[in-house]
Amino acid sequence: MKGIILAGGSATRLYPLSKAISKQIMPVYDKPMIYYPLSTLMLAGIREVLIISTPRDLPVFRELLGTGEELGMSFEYCVQERPEGLAQAFVLGADFLNGGPGCLILGDNLFYGQGFSAMLHRASALKKGACIFGYSVKDPRAYGVVEFDDRGRVLSLEEKPEHPRSHYAVPGLYFYDATVTAKAASLRPSARGEYEITDLNKLYLEEGTLRVEIFGRGFAWLDTGNCDSLLEAGNFVATIQNRQGYRVSCIEEIAWRKGWIDNRQLQTLGERLGKTEYGRYLMELATSGKHKKQNT
Ligand code: G1P
Repeated sequence: MKGIILAGGSATRLYPLSKAISKQIMPVYDKPMIYYPLSTLMLAGIREVLIISTPRDLPVFRELLGTGEELGMSFEYCVQERPEGLAQAFVLGADFLNGGPGCLILGDNLFYGQGFSAMLHRASALKKGACIFGYSVKDPRAYGVVEFDDRGRVLSLEEKPEHPRSHYAVPGLYFYDATVTAKAASLRPSARGEYEITDLNKLYLEEGTLRVEIFGRGFAWLDTGNCDSLLEAGNFVATIQNRQGYRVSCIEEIAWRKGWIDNRQLQTLGERLGKTEYGRYLMELATSGKHKKQNT
């Protein structure tokens, strides 16, 4: 399966922070925000990734991430001229997907928790239909909301409802089969003028092929929509890293654990980061390999 990261939008809720630079390039503690969604795709075993952003911001992502070769991956880039909705990613990404299945992740969504890799592997193995997720939040009004019946079957999906029918928000991580490109192309803009991801998901729901997996209460799904949530996400990452000594969403480490790059390549990546803790961490892994058996 191939992956798409949508890192567009104008992030006006973060002004003046995001006035001149992309939100998804901003730091979440010790790394640029886009590393987090990229690491999620990598944990799903996805090596070919399309990065979509604004005409202004795309060159910065290209400079940061390059061709992907250094990680044993392949990155492509595509401009979204105007922020016309998440589902547009599959229209813009049609050539990239080339008739195959695709996973979309939003450039500002952070996921962390035990058992995540296994869930991702299950989702990315789908042959037919779609797999999305549900996560209970205190106030789901800013999100897509999914409603279930007693037996866990999906009853409805609504985008940013005024009166949500459940507490389950739909995070910005979606797995689709090969029909996604045609389905996305058939959508019409919503009242707010966007090609809604919720409308795309509804097509799968109507078809009876939508699966929703739940992230439980021991799981973290964070977003970075405003200054408080950006700071909270950074503090969360710092807390875990400083306690455990493992780095969260370290793309170089994941590539190495997956066997996409070898010790020598990891060492080179570490050396390039100079005298930072991050660089030392990579070099230590490369020389000792002592944590190689641990899960990422
Ligand atoms: C988008 C989607 C929404 C989803 C959310 C997750 O909202 O439209 O369904 O729950 O991402 O972050 P937006 O970021 O456009 O407000």
